[in-house]
Amino acid sequence: MRKVTLETQALLVPVPVALVSVLGESGMTNILTASWLSVVAGAPPMVCLAIRPERLSHAMVQETGEFVINLPRATLLRAVDFCGTTSGRDVDKFAEARFTALPSIKVRPPAIGECPVNLECVVRQSQPLGSHVLFLAEVVALRADEDIVEDGAVIAGRLAPLAYDPFGGDYWTLKEVVAHHGFSEGRMPAPKPVQKNHKKQKTK
Ligand SMILES: Cc1cc2nc3c(=O)[nH]c(=O)nc-3n(C[C@H](O)[C@H](O)[C@H](O)COP(=O)(O)O)c2cc1C
Repeated sequence: MRKVTLETQALLVPVPVALVSVLGESGMTNILTASWLSVVAGAPPMVCLAIRPERLSHAMVQETGEFVINLPRATLLRAVDFCGTTSGRDVDKFAEARFTALPSIKVRPPAIGECPVNLECVVRQSQPLGSHVLFLAEVVALRADEDIVEDGAVIAGRLAPLAYDPFGGDYWTLKEVVAHHGFSEGRMPAPKPVQKNHKKQKTK
């Protein structure tokens, strides 16, 4: 196939979509829809999140140095889009989305009760990077709805997560498991759908 040279962009697709709950010094809560986020270390568990400095949420993360990454089910898509297209300067997103502000275990911003996974994060470093400020944060507590947990691990298939194309703007659902990590080592034939993830998540 012939290659086409495109405008240079950080084109990684798809990426996850999360609802990031934050708290300002005034005690005001807010939610930022975020897709420019990733895992960066396993021990200690670290994530990164890039926020444009003009967002209200950026100021709130700067103030407290804490945030909660809440992973939404695909059924929360309307709220995901809403929290990513409105500012906490204009609306109370917790109230408008009818979300429950659940007290966190180790950080001050509340978790979103309706999201099945909540990662409580403390910022360890921040780095301005042009359009965005990169926050490197340690995950200091993790909670998940008990119906998606088995043997101490989250069963991703029960989470029904969303993915996003930050350049095209489309939301995606992830419906099918096609194989399990390491399947090729067993010289297995073509991947078959795996119904259930029996193993704990791997540290990579
Ligand atoms: C799917 C999606 C992903 C987004 N990802 C990010 C992101 O990673 N970083 C960011 O700064 N803004 C991101 N945004 C935009 C903010 O969510 C949006 O500007 C929001 O209105 C900011 O709210 P705030 O002013 O209350 O902080 C995203 C929006 C959508 C819809």
